[in-house]
Amino acid sequence: MDKLIIEKTIELKQKSIENLIQKGTLALIVENFYAPELCDSLYNKLRVDKNSEIYTHETIENNKLVLQNYGVNRIGIPFNLTYNTTDEEIINSYYREAQVARERLRKHCYPAFTPIDKLRLNLDEVFVPGATVAHFQNKKMLTGIGRISSESLSYLSELQPHFDALPLKYAAFDKQLAANIYLNTPEEGGELELWNSPDLTPLSQVPKNWRDELPPSIKIKPKKGDLIIFNCRKPHAICAFKGKERITMQVFIGYKDGMPLMLWN
Ligand SMILES: [Fe+2]
Repeated sequence: MDKLIIEKTIELKQKSIENLIQKGTLALIVENFYAPELCDSLYNKLRVDKNSEIYTHETIENNKLVLQNYGVNRIGIPFNLTYNTTDEEIINSYYREAQVARERLRKHCYPAFTPIDKLRLNLDEVFVPGATVAHFQNKKMLTGIGRISSESLSYLSELQPHFDALPLKYAAFDKQLAANIYLNTPEEGGELELWNSPDLTPLSQVPKNWRDELPPSIKIKPKKGDLIIFNCRKPHAICAFKGKERITMQVFIGYKDGMPLMLWN
């Protein structure tokens, strides 16, 4: 395996971000990014958070946007819920909740930084020209969604890979990355499965049995506290698992040449 495909480090550095953006690194693992005791504390808060709802993932089928259920619950409203609606209330509730959710997460983590705040600050400190909360419609976006998957439905995330690409009407990024901080990892399975195939675009449609048509995958087994940033315009999946819930904090990162990195969910 090309050693640059998966990069492992103990500190987020400019070079590693550039490798992801320009050099074709598939994933960057920053070990022990968030301290284990802080992971445990946030995990215990999120699993009883009353704002937990089903997380859906968007795919395009027959030129129509379809929201798929992969057996994941989420805390925080993802922007993709607003893609296909003209209902102003759904769109407004996304923006209304963005800062509320950010503050709620801060309360959960107080007096420590939230893992997402730590990530955003670290990116701003190491990447030229910086990193910021995205503002696609002249309003600030949510940054940081908690995702909780249980053993019983974990097979749904493994069946077929998917990819994530923000529709061009909001922003035309050169690259889209996804960052996950792992608060709790299952004993068996739960690997992040990645394919080193070409980047897809927001309009790409994928075959029904995509997995069968892709080259061999690369699997990464995250540990509690790890941060993994990967190119999410390439196919990826989460392997089924056994054991305790899998809980991550997730955020997307958009890159456009000469611009600060933009973070959102
Ligand atoms: Fe994804």
